[in-house]
Amino acid sequence: MGTKLYVYTGTGNSLWIARQLALELKEAAVEFIPNLPGDFQERAERVGIIFPVHIWGLPSRVIQFVHRLQVKPETYLFALAVNAGQPAGTLLQLQELMSTRGQSLALGYSFVMPSNYIPWGGPGPMDAQRRLFSKAQEKVKAIAGAILRLERKKVDRGPLWQNILFSRVYKMSFRSVRNMDKKFWVDDKCNSCGICSSVCPASNIEMIPEKPCWLHRCEQCLACLQWCPQEAIQYGKKTVQYPRYHHPEVILRDILEQAKANEG
Ligand SMILES: Cc1cc2nc3c(=O)[nH]c(=O)nc-3n(C[C@H](O)[C@H](O)[C@H](O)COP(=O)(O)O)c2cc1C
Ligand code: SF4
Ligand code: SF4
Repeated sequence: MGTKLYVYTGTGNSLWIARQLALELKEAAVEFIPNLPGDFQERAERVGIIFPVHIWGLPSRVIQFVHRLQVKPETYLFALAVNAGQPAGTLLQLQELMSTRGQSLALGYSFVMPSNYIPWGGPGPMDAQRRLFSKAQEKVKAIAGAILRLERKKVDRGPLWQNILFSRVYKMSFRSVRNMDKKFWVDDKCNSCGICSSVCPASNIEMIPEKPCWLHRCEQCLACLQWCPQEAIQYGKKTVQYPRYHHPEVILRDILEQAKANEG
């Protein structure tokens, strides 16, 4: 029976946390959140969902996943919301969503990791990043026992002002996320390798004829921009000046696997 950890990631933070947790839980399998149509059944005794916070809430992929996930009534459900310090009401949103499906979220933890939201700047200095990694590792160790003991606790929530203010922004922007790829552009460093297209979990990039073209079903995970080996993808005007980021222990092959898993 054991534990299944479902992950969604753009730059590897969520995947790394899932792997750390899997090590602690011993018998846990890590899988990418699928993007395939139709309901699917999960029979593991414990099911965890690990994902990045996007625009102060749940990414659409996580919402769709919860809608399609069929579990037994006694399944122990938990979630880790990976963020850059502003989780807002994301875990409350998930709790509510699950309750509309007759499910309950037993545990929900916020994990602060380096920011991959490059339009607002880089991920911060290396020593600050390392501090976040080691804090996250300690937190994983601390919560693994609770998960094994099937404990139930109040979910982590951001400060009230974040919940009130940013949850509104989330609602207002949610429908426009798919079109936010209109701000991507490529500079002349692009060598037409096609990696941006291959890492996209939403199959949202076509090479036409040899440069990436975004198809407006974007999830804003930023994998394309952050994994471009030439750093040739820009978003708006400011990203030229900021360093790229992915978790140092996650490699391109991992992100390619996520995209493949979504092809079915
Ligand atoms: C489109 C987008 C929106 C984001 N919004 C938030 C946010 O509202 N609050 C926050 O703390 N971090 C936000 N972030 C940062 C990520 O949640 C954070 O860097 C996370 O660790 C990335 O995980 P990943 O590497 O698994 O994709 C955002 C990132 C992206 C790409
Ligand atoms: S990954 Fe970068 S270099 Fe490769 S095709 Fe895409 S934009 Fe061009
Ligand atoms: S186009 Fe880029 S940001 Fe949008 S879903 Fe694909 S990889 Fe993520």
